[in-house]
Amino acid sequence: MTFVVPRQAEGQAVEDPFWPRMPVGVDGLVYGGDYNPEQWPEEVWVEDVELMRQAGVNLVSIAIHAWALLEPRPGEFDFGWLDRLLDLLHGAGISVNLATPTVVPPAWLYRAHPEVRPVTRDGIELERGSRATFCPSAPAYRQAAANITRKLGARYGDHPAVALWHVHNEYGAPVGSCYCPESATAFRRWLRARHGSLDALNEAWGTTFWGQRYGEWAEIEPPRVSGTAGNPAHELDFARFCSDELLSCYTAERDILRSHSKLPVTTNFMTTNCKSIDYWRWGREVDVVANDHYLTAEADRNHIDLAMSADLTRAVAGGRPWMLMEHSTGAVNWQPRNIAKRPGEMNRNSLTHVARGADAVMFFQWRASRFGAEKFHSAMLPHSGTRSRMWQDVVRLGKDLGALHEVRGSLVQADVAVLWDWESWWALELSWRPSIELLYRERVAAYYEQLWDARLTVDFVAPEADLSGYRLVVVPSLYLTTTAAAKVLHDYVAGGGTLVVSYFSGIVDANDAMHPGGHPGALRDVLGLEVEEFLPLRQGEEVSLDGGLHGDVWAEHIRLEGAERVLDYLDGPAAGGPAVTRHRLGAGSAWYVSTRLRGAALDHVLREIYPQAGVETHDDLPRDVEVVRRRGVDADYLFVLNHTDTEVRLAASGTELLTGQRCESELCVPAGGTAVLRS
Ligand code: GAL
Repeated sequence: MTFVVPRQAEGQAVEDPFWPRMPVGVDGLVYGGDYNPEQWPEEVWVEDVELMRQAGVNLVSIAIHAWALLEPRPGEFDFGWLDRLLDLLHGAGISVNLATPTVVPPAWLYRAHPEVRPVTRDGIELERGSRATFCPSAPAYRQAAANITRKLGARYGDHPAVALWHVHNEYGAPVGSCYCPESATAFRRWLRARHGSLDALNEAWGTTFWGQRYGEWAEIEPPRVSGTAGNPAHELDFARFCSDELLSCYTAERDILRSHSKLPVTTNFMTTNCKSIDYWRWGREVDVVANDHYLTAEADRNHIDLAMSADLTRAVAGGRPWMLMEHSTGAVNWQPRNIAKRPGEMNRNSLTHVARGADAVMFFQWRASRFGAEKFHSAMLPHSGTRSRMWQDVVRLGKDLGALHEVRGSLVQADVAVLWDWESWWALELSWRPSIELLYRERVAAYYEQLWDARLTVDFVAPEADLSGYRLVVVPSLYLTTTAAAKVLHDYVAGGGTLVVSYFSGIVDANDAMHPGGHPGALRDVLGLEVEEFLPLRQGEEVSLDGGLHGDVWAEHIRLEGAERVLDYLDGPAAGGPAVTRHRLGAGSAWYVSTRLRGAALDHVLREIYPQAGVETHDDLPRDVEVVRRRGVDADYLFVLNHTDTEVRLAASGTELLTGQRCESELCVPAGGTAVLRS
């Protein structure tokens, strides 16, 4: 574990300046969800609040989509309903996460300023009518957003009900970029700041290729659809710009709120699922990291994707506690087939997030909507009301979170690091790569699944992060590798670390230009080899390796430069050549896997590596039983999440917090259940 951070306790001075600022005045773990009372008559609010109390809800997010109600005409405000709602909630002891409603500008703004409509890459102007459909660079949008934010900040900045500010909603989705003329102007401004001069930009973008040279800043446009593949450096800078442009929308609203209020400010991320936002940059700008996660309901073993999302969110939070701002009690409404959660699954999902560092469990949404696009989405209070099993589960979860109050502020203990990088994701998946099956998230998920199955807890790390606390670092895919990131990996291995790198990593620099001197340029020294030729495979084609293993998608012709062979290709285009290698460098080793291995084949290779890295796996546990540890100042908390249909028994002792029972030697976790052992 790399972070040694003091635990936050009531009245205790927090020494870490980056310690998250949880909703003010909410004790223990946070519990609640999005609350949209504007869809209901006020009589219903009274029932809502009474039921929230029964469920143990202590925080609700409100006004996320309420701009048109709060400002029905430009400059004309109606805060009466919000005043009454805040007073009602406050009277019941329920705190508020108050949103700036800037994700859905009112119709009048589009009418007065047609330019707030975003334009797609292929020139289509998107209409209002859904949500999150705005141009982040349009001055009219920025001004109107600042105005409503200012009004809310001034009116509610020190309202006793308000505990946290929720800026906007899920920046980056569903529209993460705009290609309109306003965006072009902002993009040019951003490019000037990044490159300084047009000469530097021409150099960085390699504009001598296909005669793309620019003579004036005004000639540069967003990378709109063109005849064929565009300039990848141009595309990559545009992706950076889009993330930064939305970030500046966030910081503008945040700074207005800070000028009126001392409360913490955040916005909800979607860490593993939003490709368009570089959350390494965003994580530093929020007072507490908040994340939304929805299961891919049909996917097999989808609790592993949930764990990956939680681990990445914790990494974005610098290892410190974070908030689960949204997930679902049951089915969502926007997947092809919206599979309901099985009894116990919602509780287990929630406590998995807590096990992996969340100090808040919140849902979309409190009460199911009667109308609109989301009426088939599950809720804490479903259409069948308090008669439902779902409601019973919601009440039980409230009790469980209450029983876990002391877990707040404790830190997750991780075994290995996995490198994650949004920029490399963007670059890898641009057009005209050697194979369309080179997919960033696929490789990360494949490695993550094996680590999960070995019961190793993962800390995700950014490319240039300090790795010295880890015995094993996995780099599943790092096509874009800066020389600074490569140096960190080199020093880590030389200093005694064990590194595993997957194929097509270390290829290009920050401008998508090949590192000189042959592949994988940036990682050649650390891996002790050269890749002479990439050998992408046909769709469905497999290659055989020693040990009865099979790879697909990719193979390489490798020339060793100090690395040793571990497994060879037995057939296919690289037959007879090395497939998996190890390079002993200084006090450590760097492994390279040059084909796509999955499941048992990948597990086989990693199990060679774990003992050499000094990493201990936990193979005594049944498949799909998850174990994660959080460490507090005075106690350790062992979370055991049983995703199977049978009861499991583990040797352990301590106090089980959900039942309050003392466990002397054996912990019994029911089928589909969870246990949290304090020791
Ligand atoms: C989220 C969004 C919520 C709600 C939810 C439904 O992405 O923030 O407002 O739409 O999805 O699953």
